[in-house]
Amino acid sequence: PQDVGILALEIYFPAQYVEQNELEEFDGVSQGKYTIGLGQQKMGFCSDREDINSLCLTVVQRLMERNQVSYQDVGRLEVGTETVIDKSKSVKTVLMQLFEDSGNTSIEGVDTTNACYGGTSALFNSLNWIESSAWDGRYAIVVAGDIAVYATGNARCTGGAGAVAMLLGSHAPLVFDRGLRSTHMQHVYDFYKPDMSSEYPVVDGKLSIQCYLGALDRCYQTYCQKAEACLKQENLGSHFSLDSSAFFAFHTPYCKLVQKSLARLMLNDFLRDPDAGANPKYSGLEAVRGVKLEDTYFDRDVEKAVMVASQSSYKEKTEPTLSVAKQVGNMYTPSLYGGLASILGSYSCSELAGKRVTLFSYGSGLASSMFSLHFSEDASPGSQLERVCLSLCDLQERLDSRKKMPPADFDKMMKLREETHHKAPYTPVGDVEALFSGTWYLTEVDSKHRRKYERK
Ligand code: ACO
Repeated sequence: PQDVGILALEIYFPAQYVEQNELEEFDGVSQGKYTIGLGQQKMGFCSDREDINSLCLTVVQRLMERNQVSYQDVGRLEVGTETVIDKSKSVKTVLMQLFEDSGNTSIEGVDTTNACYGGTSALFNSLNWIESSAWDGRYAIVVAGDIAVYATGNARCTGGAGAVAMLLGSHAPLVFDRGLRSTHMQHVYDFYKPDMSSEYPVVDGKLSIQCYLGALDRCYQTYCQKAEACLKQENLGSHFSLDSSAFFAFHTPYCKLVQKSLARLMLNDFLRDPDAGANPKYSGLEAVRGVKLEDTYFDRDVEKAVMVASQSSYKEKTEPTLSVAKQVGNMYTPSLYGGLASILGSYSCSELAGKRVTLFSYGSGLASSMFSLHFSEDASPGSQLERVCLSLCDLQERLDSRKKMPPADFDKMMKLREETHHKAPYTPVGDVEALFSGTWYLTEVDSKHRRKYERK
């Protein structure tokens, strides 16, 4: 199949949020810590009416309805999530309810879990399926969804919640670059969820940042080598750098880390380029020549120099990927794909046509990959690229239509989720009126932990 990639993309986030500057005050931290220090504006959160099943039901049905896809035309559906409410039964099987009326039960795929990386693994599986002998010509759907919540303390402000669903197939307007994938995986306890009765992770914040930046270096180095081999083949020169992609999107635990990540790619470019000294784009970096990447994760001087040098690249190539992350928070598995939604929602299709997006996916524990896609050249009226862009042009409007909640209410909701998260039987108490219309919500957990849902 030709041009395998994303045909349509849908995003769902909760209809309520807490303002990060109000949370700073509520938490008693210094003003600016969350908003400037971490770069976050708002954080979305769910009441006890929503769980991973309902988030995924909502986003998949929206994807199907808004793109008028027939349930019969789907041959693979898989979910990437780290929000586990059942150790055996997959979210995918719950989503099969949506397919019941169509009679289509012939759908491959189940769930994939490794922190924020599960969605990327599900995506790779589905792309591989389409390129394999097992493909029967039907669409694949990949769903990434999570409810990201932390215990009280310094990590709580880096929560979020949401889901992204992607319709995949051939002749797509967002085409994945073949052969351009790099991966780094490693055993490390930076963030994990050993307590089955709790929604909260055990997290070593500093270690997780070091692991993230280390994985980014490793993935970028291999990605550059592979990209350079492709460029040579296509006679497009032979050097890959920040200039080679229009956008760089990253898994976004918080936006400041992503700005530092883009800066880090510039540091990699600088250290890799023997002619860097003569290049004005690297001015100000002379002092960092010869540093070892692994010595610089928390080096203030190096960080400051590359942050300054990469400022304009960041504004152009990465800031446009952060509108969802800034306003919803870390959604875990969908975070990176929220970056893609942010790009699609911010530009017209003619501005995007032919451009490349390089993506970095990171899941603690750890699993990470860098890969890329490009937008089709055809941005004519009625083109597929136009359709994808139009489907997300109301993104900011949807974000703005959410309801702001006081931090005290957010805190109460976290306590309620803590106390009732694994209760059975349980009847949720959260306000159904507060949900966006079309949202699936939990109505009941019976004494055997069976969950029932309705759609608003
Ligand atoms: N005004 C402006 N900036 C401020 C202020 C202020 N008043 N106060 C603090 N800051 C800055 C700090 O200087 C720091 O900046 P720096 O990172 O450039 O040094 C930043 O705000 C954060 O402050 P810290 O004191 O370092 O924050 P803390 O240690 O309390 O927590 C952390 C931050 C570790 C990210 C925590 O929120 C956490 O553990 N989050 C979850 C883990 C995570 O997201 N890891 C990332 C990868 S793994 C994943 O995706 C889950």
